[in-house]
Amino acid sequence: MARYLVTGVAGFIGRSIAAALLARGEGVRGVDNFLTGKRVNLVGLEAMEFMEGDLSDPAACARACAGVEIVFHEAALASVPRSVADPVGTNVNCVDATLNLLVAARAAGVRRVVYAGSSSVYGDAPTLPKHEEMLPNPISPYAVAKLAGEHYTRALPASTAGDGGAALLQCFWTLPGPTSHYSGVLAIFCRKMLAGEQPTIYGDGEQSRDFTYIDNVVHANLLAAAAPAEKVSGQMMNTAMGTRITLNETFEILRELTGFSGKPAYAEGRAGDIRDSLADIRLAGELLGTRLSPVSARGCAAPLSGTGPAAELSRACSRVAGQAKWPVFPHLAFFSDGVY
Ligand code: UD1
Repeated sequence: MARYLVTGVAGFIGRSIAAALLARGEGVRGVDNFLTGKRVNLVGLEAMEFMEGDLSDPAACARACAGVEIVFHEAALASVPRSVADPVGTNVNCVDATLNLLVAARAAGVRRVVYAGSSSVYGDAPTLPKHEEMLPNPISPYAVAKLAGEHYTRALPASTAGDGGAALLQCFWTLPGPTSHYSGVLAIFCRKMLAGEQPTIYGDGEQSRDFTYIDNVVHANLLAAAAPAEKVSGQMMNTAMGTRITLNETFEILRELTGFSGKPAYAEGRAGDIRDSLADIRLAGELLGTRLSPVSARGCAAPLSGTGPAAELSRACSRVAGQAKWPVFPHLAFFSDGVY
């Protein structure tokens, strides 16, 4: 019997959370509509009860929530540029989907929903690092949608029973993901540079990101599900590394890692793009009782077997592991062929 539901389970974050739960021996149900998720991401999750379904359909939400106690809501139509091109699609798959899920979760007596927020809600305010008490200032339809989902989660707590009623909000930052379904810049750069193709930097490359290691995101989610309601209910917490790196610096690191010998192409900055992204991560440390930073070099010890770009990159990461200046390595070393 599934105790946990993971939405967006065929995506990078969702499948990583499901894998961690299964490794703990938990009963897990996963739902995905494969709009952007990939079936290959379900490999290794055979012990999970999988349900193909679209959260914009209330009946699918009801089926997904039946009997579960805790929901990790990771499903979304990610991507700032996609939301600029198709704001309605983003709204349906982020806002409508979240609301349907919350209504179904309440009806099913779900005790807690852990919601995956986005750093994009902070917008382009010059204040760094971004902290949870700042007023949101979404400047892309994606950020608006993620913010709406956040507010709905807070306004519609899952249930009123026991220590429940807790909706917990997390703010995810720019996550790396190596497969084509994730639009993150690290994934794109890695794939291109390993193939000897020139990557494109939108803008001057001096924009910065708080790239967040997937293990930390998974860890934070599990802690958030288990934390006392009085600490975390309705509470947004930044989930990040607390460090930032510019795209130009990232390119240089990847150039060395991949052996790419060319230069990047520069193109006009993207609409809705944020200049700098850096999180204050003290609150999550306080409320979840752990520090989410610093990045450990553990990721570099990830399985390095296999072939293809991801394994090749993992091996490159492992060769240079231990050089202090490269906090971004573990993200990359965590890539594993086609699975994430
Ligand atoms: C945003 C959100 C993040 C969310 C993600 C979902 C912010 C700060 N972060 O990430 O919380 O999870 O959307 O999609 O808003 N870039 C290039 N070349 C490329 C691709 C990207 O230069 O080929 C640039 C982008 O213009 C941007 C940076 O790299 O400046 C990062 O882009 P991306 O990885 O897509 O994530 P964000 O849009 O920053």
